Amino acid sequence: PLVKELFGLSDLEKAMREAFGLSKVVIVPGDSDESDHVKREMGRAGGRVLRESLSRGDVVAVMGGSTMARMASQFPVSAPMRDNWFVPARGGLGESVDYQANTIAAELAKLTSARYRMLHVPDHLSEEAYQTIMQEPNVKEVVDMIRGARIVVHGIGDAMTMARRRKVGPDTMEEMKREGALAEAFGYYFDRNGQVVHRMATAGLRLEDIEAAGVVIGIAGGRSKGEAISSVLRFGHDDILVTDEAAAEEALRHL
Ligand code: BG6
Repeated sequence: PLVKELFGLSDLEKAMREAFGLSKVVIVPGDSDESDHVKREMGRAGGRVLRESLSRGDVVAVMGGSTMARMASQFPVSAPMRDNWFVPARGGLGESVDYQANTIAAELAKLTSARYRMLHVPDHLSEEAYQTIMQEPNVKEVVDMIRGARIVVHGIGDAMTMARRRKVGPDTMEEMKREGALAEAFGYYFDRNGQVVHRMATAGLRLEDIEAAGVVIGIAGGRSKGEAISSVLRFGHDDILVTDEAAAEEALRHL
């Protein structure tokens, strides 16, 4: 393909930085749709980038997903990080337990001797139940901590893939399609211009908290996610992207 002939990986990183206004892009070779090895390498690179971004006392809000799980399991452990906190960025979101943000936050904390807090707010609550839970002092305390996180780390998904994985009902699916939902990140669905068209009902980070965070790191790869990555980058609040070669090529095609 043309893009490959023109670009080495570091040229591709530079092209991505410039196209999407990112401060840093790390690209691993290959396509994680086709190889689990590539996905693992991308997870490992994501862990290194997070490690480098961390300062003492930082609160890190993490999302869930299989890419985040690979990042967590390979996080580079050096000195204990006793004054760092890992918290889930959002509540449930209908993921299986291995891929929940709570699980990933706890795993990172255990590996690094950091501290963590869980957020136990189920999905699909009635408005009334939600308001009641949010008034619980310990829930409120965790939510405040999440909203003040200096670092946010998240995966990116294709909208319809994520909606299916989260068992969104057929009517909502249709509605989202009509609205042009193309990408999903942190429980929000985006159209091709990076506009939010739908959100999952759960507690935690809001868009304004993401805008206010010091460092936002996206980790996602695979050619099938290229367009979704481009859409979330157009939303415009990521600082760092860790991806693979195939996704980067595809994202640039959907500029
Ligand atoms: C999660 C995010 O981190 O990863 C989702 O909350 C994203 O927004 C998902 O879509 C992607 O999951 P996976 O398994 O493809 O890494």
